[in-house]
Amino acid sequence: MQETPKRFVTVAVDGGAAAGKSSTSRAVAERFGLMHVDTGAHYRTVALALTRAGISPGDTGAITAFLGIGGSTGDSAGDAVGGTTGDATARLTTVVEGRTARLAIDGVAPADAALRAPEINAVVSPFAAVPAVRQFLFAYQRGQVAVARERGFNGLVMEGRDIGSVILPDADLRVFLEADPEARAARRVAEGGVDAVAERDKRDSSRKTAPLVCPAGAVRIDNTHLSLAEVVEEIARLITALR
Ligand code: CDP
Repeated sequence: MQETPKRFVTVAVDGGAAAGKSSTSRAVAERFGLMHVDTGAHYRTVALALTRAGISPGDTGAITAFLGIGGSTGDSAGDAVGGTTGDATARLTTVVEGRTARLAIDGVAPADAALRAPEINAVVSPFAAVPAVRQFLFAYQRGQVAVARERGFNGLVMEGRDIGSVILPDADLRVFLEADPEARAARRVAEGGVDAVAERDKRDSSRKTAPLVCPAGAVRIDNTHLSLAEVVEEIARLITALR
């Protein structure tokens, strides 16, 4: 049964690879009528677009030119926006499917299968460590709060690595999900994925720009031995307790 929070709520869910962020965030969105934003999918979408253009993570000049860094402001008014420097202009829009908001670049919102392919698992962290890539997505991601309001949701749950620390530091609730590395690797294998979870975590935690950290004021939930329902219950309790 859906519950209505007392007011518009913003929830930040951070954690390492395969820590259960997506399934937890989706279930919380369902329970409270929130819009769900997976920022990992944003980085995967950018990594896929750059890979398809033949650009590698070390090629900062080509990345900047392709993304047209200089003016990405988000699409809270529903209009397409994007960077506008140089010849290239990558336009960012939001496609809402059910409760999930998906990023489209130049009108293309790639299918999940393409975003989660082993080739993208292998390059997404190196691309995400490039400051120009993060700058490109920053305003767009912040703008998702306004998109959730405009589309009539009861709030927003946004998952990633830097949501409570950088993108939405004022989120009403910040959650940091953890699980043992063995449990996380086993989950990815059970999903049928090919993914070096520990290696990606190491890269994400050690990068200079917006590293994976437990944000100040976040509630840590170790879900190694908890079911999805138990984790969702815990977060639901925290949302219901918000004033
Ligand atoms: O689903 P999983 O936890 O394996 O990964 P994801 O959430 O799809 O994120 C893929 C990659 O995007 C991460 O390994 C990070 O390198 C990057 N990412 C990031 O840098 N910042 C975020 N807010 C979200 C993802």
